Amino acid sequence: MNKPILISGIQPTGKLHLGNYLGVLKNFVELQNSDKYQCYFFIADYHSLTEDFNTKEKSKQILDLIADYLAAGIDPKKSVIFIQSAVPAHVELAVILNNFTPFGELRRMTQFKEKSQENPFNINAGLFDYPVLMAADILLYDAQFVPVGEDQLQHLELTRTLARKFNSKFGKTFIEPKPLLTKAPRLMSLDDPMKKMSKSQTAGCLFIDDKPLMIKEKIKKAVTDSGKEIRYDPQIKPALSNLILIFSALSNYSIKAVERRFKNKGYAEFKKELAEIIIKTLVPFQKKKKKLKKQTSFIKKIISQGNKKANGVSSKKLLQIKEKIGLKI
Ligand code: TRP
Repeated sequence: MNKPILISGIQPTGKLHLGNYLGVLKNFVELQNSDKYQCYFFIADYHSLTEDFNTKEKSKQILDLIADYLAAGIDPKKSVIFIQSAVPAHVELAVILNNFTPFGELRRMTQFKEKSQENPFNINAGLFDYPVLMAADILLYDAQFVPVGEDQLQHLELTRTLARKFNSKFGKTFIEPKPLLTKAPRLMSLDDPMKKMSKSQTAGCLFIDDKPLMIKEKIKKAVTDSGKEIRYDPQIKPALSNLILIFSALSNYSIKAVERRFKNKGYAEFKKELAEIIIKTLVPFQKKKKKLKKQTSFIKKIISQGNKKANGVSSKKLLQIKEKIGLKI
C-alpha cells in the first residue's frame, strides 16, 4: 500500500531557534518516524530570495539547514530531502498556476502585507508571488498533508483553491492538501513574553546553535514575573509560564509535574534546571551537526539523491499538467 504523501520546506535564512526546533524540525522527525507518510522535506531556497540576502551567506545557510535536517533526525533512507532550486518543475508549475491566481487574492495575503511593511524598500514580485510557488511545491507531489505553522494556513488555503479551480477547469489533476498543525507550543521571547521568540530579537532568542554558556546566560537573564511561586498562569505570569512551557516541552514532565517539582522552590533553582534541560537537548544535536558539517561530500550525495528522486516525481507530474492545458503537441 502506498502511503499518503507529506511535504514541507523551510527557507534557508539563517539560524533556527528553539521554537523552530520544537515546532518544525522535531515535528518533521516525528511525522517521518510515525511511518504513516511518504515524506518530502526540502530547502525552500527560491522562497528565501524574496527577502534581502547576502550571496556568500546564502550557500552557507543552505548547507547549514541541510545539516539541521539531518542532525535533528530526518533520515534520507526514509524521507526525500532535496533543494527546491534543483528541481525546475517547481518554477514551471508556478508559472502555469500564476495564470489562475487572481491578483487581488495575492494582494490580500497577510504575509505579503506584513513583509511589505517590514521591508518597504524591497516589495518585489517574488514576494508577491510567494504563495503561488508554494502551491506549486505542494501540488507537484500530490501531497495530501502539509505540516505548517499557523502563519502559512492562508497560503495552504490558496493552494487548495488553486487545485480545485484547476481540477474543475481541466479535469482531476491535483489533490487538495490538508494542513497539519503542530502541537508544539509557541515560544515567546525570553526578554518579552508578549512577543514571539524570533531570531531578529537576539537577546530573547534561544538559537539551536547556542553553546551551553550562552544558554545559561540567556536563561539567567530571562525576565520573570512578580511573586515567588513556580506556577503556570499565562495571564498573570506570562514570562514564567513561557519558561515552564519550554521545560515541559523538553522533558517528559507535564506542566502540572513541573509545578509539583518546583513547589516551594524559587526561580533561581527552576532556571538552573531549565538551562540544564535545554543544554541536554541541544548539545547532542550540536555534536551531530558539527560532525555532519565536516562531511560535505556525504551531504552532497544525500542531496543529489533527493534531487533526483524529486525531479523524477515532479517532472512526470508536470508533463501530465502540460498535457491537460494543451501545451504538449
Ligand atoms: N512558506 C513556508 C514557511 O515559510 C516555507 C515553504 C515553502 C513551504 N514552500 C512550502 C512549507 C511548501 C510547506 C510546503 O514556513
